[in-house]
Amino acid sequence: MKIDIPVSQPYRVDIAPGLLDDLGRYVSSGTAALVVTEEHVAPLLLERACRALRAAGVRAVPAVLPAGEETKSLVQYATLLHKLAEAGLTRADTVVALGGGVIGDLAGFAAATWLRGIRLVQVPTTLLAMVDSSVGGKTAIDLPEGKNLVGAFHQPAAVVCDPQLLDTLPPAILRDGCAEALKTAVLFDPDLFSHLAARGTDFDRMTVLPRCVACKRDAVCADEFDRGTRQLLNLGHTAGHAIEALSGYRIAHGHAVAIGLAIMARAFCRDAAEIEAALIKLGLPTRTEFPPERLAQAALADKKRAGERITLVIPRAIGDCVLREVPVDTLADIFERGM
Ligand code: GLY
Repeated sequence: MKIDIPVSQPYRVDIAPGLLDDLGRYVSSGTAALVVTEEHVAPLLLERACRALRAAGVRAVPAVLPAGEETKSLVQYATLLHKLAEAGLTRADTVVALGGGVIGDLAGFAAATWLRGIRLVQVPTTLLAMVDSSVGGKTAIDLPEGKNLVGAFHQPAAVVCDPQLLDTLPPAILRDGCAEALKTAVLFDPDLFSHLAARGTDFDRMTVLPRCVACKRDAVCADEFDRGTRQLLNLGHTAGHAIEALSGYRIAHGHAVAIGLAIMARAFCRDAAEIEAALIKLGLPTRTEFPPERLAQAALADKKRAGERITLVIPRAIGDCVLREVPVDTLADIFERGM
């Protein structure tokens, strides 16, 4: 299945089982590729990816980084730049991001900035990356002061989505991606919501992946540079990012977004009970111990703040969500309403 993403630099998301072994199709013969991955993915998939590239006449150079959110750092970004220099990658060459959201964001930012931008091929290995972060061109690293504070828009040349890679995922990481898939469903697709609510983690991959990518395509094409309606994709993320940060990133992104989504649903949504039930069916949390004032304080350090106002995504019903600017001093009350 192929989904075209007609943004300023158009590309395609290919979704098919076994696609990893065809990775060579996405990189020109006679060029080089830095294959960026992390220590948990490397033993499972790195050799396969490099073999597919070499079979197509590509010089594949592996770069294996530590796993986890801490890797989206200035230090690991510098490590990648030195690898790119050592490997002698030119503007004809490619960075391949083989991993989840952390690797996609970091390798993407290195690709966006090395020589002022070289080709990037996203090969998402987690559900979260397949349904959200590999599509749309957002790349970033974190600072100690906050998540995704340094970044660039850099659309990939292709997204190679192989659903079989989900077989290698630990259940908690699969559930993490389910939170982003359910968020997409609440925003845009009531049928997808019903499918996820009924099937839980036993969802049909060739239904859920294309539907999520199609929703993401529409959101990104309507507002490529995130100045307006693309911000709908932040549903659940204001509280979610705060929970992630307050937990010292021990609560993973998707799990934190699940709690953020539940808070916003209980505060505003007439379908809150259905959303909460679907999150529970997917094995996701819906509550946090952090008090609303601390959540609000952490959320206000987030880049979504604009002066004394912050833009929230309000879920009125499944398939009916809107952006609303609210004064920052109302945030703790809003969170409290949803706790
Ligand atoms: N993950 C949200 C976005 O791409 O805008």
